Amino acid sequence: MKLEINTEQLMRELHALAAISSEPAPVVTRVVYSEADMRARAYVKQLFAAAGLQVRDDAVGNIFARWVGQDAEAPAVGTGSHIDAIPNAGMYDGVVGVLGGLEAVRALQRSGVRPRRSIELLVFAAEEPTRFGLGCPGSRILAGTVSPETARQWKDAEGQSLDALRRAAGFTGEVKDAVLPQNYYGQFVELHIEQGKFLEQEKIPIGAVTHIAAPASAFITIEGAGGHAGGMLMPDRKDALAAAAKFILAVEAAAKATDSMDTVATVGICDVFPGAINSVPSRVKLSLDVRDIDPARRDGVLHELAQVSEAISKKRGVKIHTEMLNADAPAASDGAILRAIEAACQENGLQCRRMVARAYHDSLFMARIAPMAMIFIPCRDGVSHRPDEFASPEEITRGVQVLAHTLASLAG
Ligand code: GLV
Ligand code: MN
Ligand code: MN
Repeated sequence: MKLEINTEQLMRELHALAAISSEPAPVVTRVVYSEADMRARAYVKQLFAAAGLQVRDDAVGNIFARWVGQDAEAPAVGTGSHIDAIPNAGMYDGVVGVLGGLEAVRALQRSGVRPRRSIELLVFAAEEPTRFGLGCPGSRILAGTVSPETARQWKDAEGQSLDALRRAAGFTGEVKDAVLPQNYYGQFVELHIEQGKFLEQEKIPIGAVTHIAAPASAFITIEGAGGHAGGMLMPDRKDALAAAAKFILAVEAAAKATDSMDTVATVGICDVFPGAINSVPSRVKLSLDVRDIDPARRDGVLHELAQVSEAISKKRGVKIHTEMLNADAPAASDGAILRAIEAACQENGLQCRRMVARAYHDSLFMARIAPMAMIFIPCRDGVSHRPDEFASPEEITRGVQVLAHTLASLAG
């Protein structure tokens, strides 16, 4: 089957969506339920409707756009990704899987294919942890990995609950109705940029993702004692930021000590109180993000850091409180979908490499309710979560080709 991908139209749509941002170009910032997010949703929904798809939102703002198959009752084949973007992000993360997924559907429609099973395009409410401090809130709810009651109480930094925010955004149904039944999707496939350098370095156009890493995150609050930067003598200090510095270096060391490239650990937030040049820091709030494809090794790092906290606390007379936000299990891809991706690559004369995904993806949670796999395409220098994130039109087109063939083979 030869599929014509309309790269020009797809790139026009990618750029149009990138222009919908709460910060000026080239920065893309779209936090879930923000004004920019709502405009972006309206834009993609209008594209979905123009392609003849049946569009619906659920109670938390996951968007579903269905190309109804000949057997409308059979479990659908799902694809899609996210359009929310962290502050100061670029235009490809997530969006390639949404607009690329749409173009895959349109290419199949143009080719005259009429799939047996429905193909459904999904835009997850949010993949990024920006608003609620927790990645993939939409797919966590869909997959039933969190109770609807707990999800409704998730709060953003201003203390606004998911329940209040989603209602204000116009999503007023029952959150419990957003949970999908186990057989809703027969399979789920997500197209995404790699956000790493393997494909680019090895000059391989397509990655078939075999595992998604297990992420864990926490907030660490360090309480010391503040005071006058001149008057408070060094022997009397319980400087919370100095203690934090020790902890941050221990995070880096603990990840490196596993000797595995698959262990990564990051402190990305450091809020210092009171934050004055002439005041000894009395309180620091840190974020901690640890990931690995081996959950036991990741938990080993968390355990090591708990011991480090205790030692720092004793030595420096500070109190350290750890609030775990999540410690998710990794996901393994489905063998049959991986083989369908590889067959699609072969049909298109494209080299393909099996690899692991180290970033958060909604597919991590979709794997709980359906066989899942992901398709990766290269991105320049492995850069992501930055305005200069880039994937070429050719690379995107190849990804869409492979996605379209995979969807056609899965939907029958
Ligand atoms: C999201 O992109 C994440 O991996 O945290
Ligand atoms: Mn991201
Ligand atoms: Mn993403």
